[in-house]
Amino acid sequence: MSQERVNKSQVISMQEMSRRHFMKLGMAGIGAVSLEVSGKEETPKGFTDFEELPARQASGLRLAQGFVYKNLCAFGDPLKAGLEDYDPKKLSAQEQQNRFGGACDFIHVFEEDDQNAIICINNEFPEQGQYPDKSERKKAAYHSVGVSIAAVKRDAAGDWQVNTSSPYNRRITPDTKAVITGPAAGHERMKSKASPDGIVSAGTFGNCAGGYTPWGTYLTAEENVQGYFSGQINGHKEEENFKRFGMKNKGNFFATIDSRFDLDSDSQSALHFGLVVEIDPKKPNEPMKKHSMLGRCRHECAKVRVRNDGHVEVYTSDDQGFEYIYKFVSEKKYKEGDRKYNKSLLENGVLHVAKFAENGSMQWLPMLYGQGPLNEKNGFQSQADVQIDSRKAADLLEATPMDRPEDIDIHPETGNVFFFMTGNRGRSSEKLNAANKVEGGAGHIIELNDQGKEGKWNFFVVCGKFSGDPSNSTFSKSTTLQGCFVYPDNGAFDQNGELWVCSDGYSFPGFTDGLWHCQKSEGGAVSKRFATPPKAAEFTGPYFMKNAKELFISVQHPATNPSGSFPDFNHLPARSAVVVIKRG
Ligand code: FEO
Ligand code: CA
Ligand code: CA
Repeated sequence: MSQERVNKSQVISMQEMSRRHFMKLGMAGIGAVSLEVSGKEETPKGFTDFEELPARQASGLRLAQGFVYKNLCAFGDPLKAGLEDYDPKKLSAQEQQNRFGGACDFIHVFEEDDQNAIICINNEFPEQGQYPDKSERKKAAYHSVGVSIAAVKRDAAGDWQVNTSSPYNRRITPDTKAVITGPAAGHERMKSKASPDGIVSAGTFGNCAGGYTPWGTYLTAEENVQGYFSGQINGHKEEENFKRFGMKNKGNFFATIDSRFDLDSDSQSALHFGLVVEIDPKKPNEPMKKHSMLGRCRHECAKVRVRNDGHVEVYTSDDQGFEYIYKFVSEKKYKEGDRKYNKSLLENGVLHVAKFAENGSMQWLPMLYGQGPLNEKNGFQSQADVQIDSRKAADLLEATPMDRPEDIDIHPETGNVFFFMTGNRGRSSEKLNAANKVEGGAGHIIELNDQGKEGKWNFFVVCGKFSGDPSNSTFSKSTTLQGCFVYPDNGAFDQNGELWVCSDGYSFPGFTDGLWHCQKSEGGAVSKRFATPPKAAEFTGPYFMKNAKELFISVQHPATNPSGSFPDFNHLPARSAVVVIKRG
């Protein structure tokens, strides 16, 4: 969810900008541009060929002409056989542990064949049912966060359905068993009342974007975990860490359910969160791994690739204004086919943080204890401290503070890495830097040709300012009002290797969130609106199926609209859901 807002006068300027931008090319012209950009002569397959959708938002999900969607699953739907259909009034804590979580975000579909798959869905923050007893309702909401895993199969009509009898179906909640791995595992600072050895742990929440590995595991990134803990920060032995993380004395209701979330009672538990978590969807009884090697911050995502030399890289970002982009490089090399061994690769290696230069080069600064400023003088006693205090370590290394880094996607053909910045209203003129050049910027996407220790980068698109000043945006002149997006949050490449972008600007009056197709051309980024979520909702976690015919996408927080009823459109209140989009 966005923490950014703009005022009415800024919206008016945005509309003025769009009028100036509004194109005379017409749809045939836009189609021609996209053909030229893709370099393909045949009619584009998949989703690329569509007529732009007007921005108008409604109570339902709106798609470009010729496309349809079907609901796959929604908050509170049964995950196990024998459960009744969703009824918000019956959603007890026990029930919620066997039903889909809420606030759907990142999705990955592990495709087994054209008929069967396992879908993993992040459930970012608590979503509430209507259980009559208030305390039970909160306990249910506690169990609505984490991850939902379900087997899906095609029905006779060819539509995907949840297979409720699959042994893989399960919920990962704040109580699910976990182990800490990497340099922080077993460290004194990780030992708590709930985890005397600092290794055995439990739970995940704040699961925003994520990733997957070539060995078939799912990665979920713990983002806004700072809001789940309560207790006195001033004078706390982790005061410096907690303050740098943005924690406040008062968190949400979690401390009323489990003392792990009460900093006065269990001083160290909070350090078990803000990690990248690895889950094996095929091993329901294996504890998930919380990888301290990938650093501790408000992780947004975790995108993995195997380098030509066999080492594995994981790109991850810290989603807050002026925070950083990180890259982990494994010590050991990937072994094709050795799943068990590969599952240890994220436990050991080196974390790096990005420093961008004006000349289009960049460096990955290694975050190694004892090197440079990461020493006792600055409060680091071990590599564990560097991992636990990643933000402080990155500050000392003088990495580049970014405009809220969110999703990261790797181009399937060029291997270039795309970093999404959601924007930063706090970016003043004195704080501009090489890779964040717009005062109060409304987001941009950086494309990096990563060469290991360094790379070459450029701006794929700059969305401009909140005020909508066109001199600050790099959308092409052919991009229309509804085609210009701001606040890029999640993205995905389709089977044509073309980029799609979801925005997170639901609180921005005069702008509606959406899903856009975006290609670079000589005249700037050519962007077209493909879909608009129900009023007050945003799209998250797009996933294009290998058949190039289906798109899975999450619809998050439609209940922010109190009169909404998506996706049921009956007496039920609106709830987050995952839908499948295809040509009708
Ligand atoms: Fe959960 Fe960074 O959006
Ligand atoms: Ca978001
Ligand atoms: Ca996000």
